[in-house]
Amino acid sequence: MKELQYPIAPPLLAWFQNVRRSLPFREDPTPYHVWVSEIMLQQTRMAAVLPYYERFMNVLPDVRSLAECDPDRLNKLWEGLGYYSRVRNLQKAAQIVCRDYGGELPRTYEELLKLPGIGAYTAGAIASISMGIPVPAVDGNVLRVFSRLYNDEGDILQPETKERCTGRVRQQMPPDAAGDFNQALMELGAMVCTPRSPDCVRCPLQDLCTGREARGDAVEALPVKAPKKARTAVTVTVLLIRSPGGWLVTRRPEKGLLAGLWQPLTAEKLCTEEEMLEMAGKLGVSARITAPLPAAKHIFTHVEWSLCGWMAETDTVPVLSEGAAWMDDPADYSIPSAFAAYRDMMI
Ligand code: ADE
Ligand code: SF4
Repeated sequence: MKELQYPIAPPLLAWFQNVRRSLPFREDPTPYHVWVSEIMLQQTRMAAVLPYYERFMNVLPDVRSLAECDPDRLNKLWEGLGYYSRVRNLQKAAQIVCRDYGGELPRTYEELLKLPGIGAYTAGAIASISMGIPVPAVDGNVLRVFSRLYNDEGDILQPETKERCTGRVRQQMPPDAAGDFNQALMELGAMVCTPRSPDCVRCPLQDLCTGREARGDAVEALPVKAPKKARTAVTVTVLLIRSPGGWLVTRRPEKGLLAGLWQPLTAEKLCTEEEMLEMAGKLGVSARITAPLPAAKHIFTHVEWSLCGWMAETDTVPVLSEGAAWMDDPADYSIPSAFAAYRDMMI
């Protein structure tokens, strides 16, 4: 393992003092604030997160209010951020924190790690940023920066590559500035050491960077990442049924993709008009097709949906059983973005 000539902390922290953005969870980095912001930031860009974060904190200012929030209301607060398992785990963890820790997040890395939805990165971020505990928080940005700094060709999807990086971060981390050090690394990865065309001439670590030294501009080839397997393609057929009492929506199963969220009548395969009307019939709804829906696509992490279907109408408003409803006010139901193309027609 090649060592760097000098520690990175002094130039990195000096740079961070200059570029540091004022962010609500940075100005008041309580464990709860850092936790929620880090979960939101996991798959979503900073600019998109900020309005969600503000709204979330206005409605749910502490762990207890999150633990007690109605799940449909919580999904509504999350609508548009996607990856809803994040918010389900957030609430599950909040309930455990209320039950076992009196409503305050536990103050060790190991106990944080046991909570649902909190992995090594999030536990490290909460512990270092809000508690000053000197532990690494290695996300994709940090992996990229360290692969380049150490000219490391390891595949970053391999656990051993991530462990090697974590060890190097631990070694470089100043014990009295862990939170700033971790955030400076994330920020460097986001703003300077970007995936494409890193801005090495403006990088505070350019004199220390062995990847840059060995490869010049070709340092952008790092980190090495083995290709992922292709997404599974799924055809989805949708029937938007309008009645005088609102639009038909059904609740998705409690497990799996988009668990527990509401959707129009949907089959996760290619269906004919007759098959969709028969599905409606099983709910006691007798409808007639009025128009085809435009085709649409939605891409998830492991699955890709191709959506198609029809509009339909019914003149009656039969009583529905559990798990189905007539939606007269879209504000009452959280319909995921996967249905965005059709959701906007249901008004
Ligand atoms: N991305 C995720 N968490 C971050 C943080 N705390 N600061 C900057 N960028 C981030
Ligand atoms: Fe990244 Fe370039 Fe800085 Fe090295 S010199 S850490 S490659 S931005």
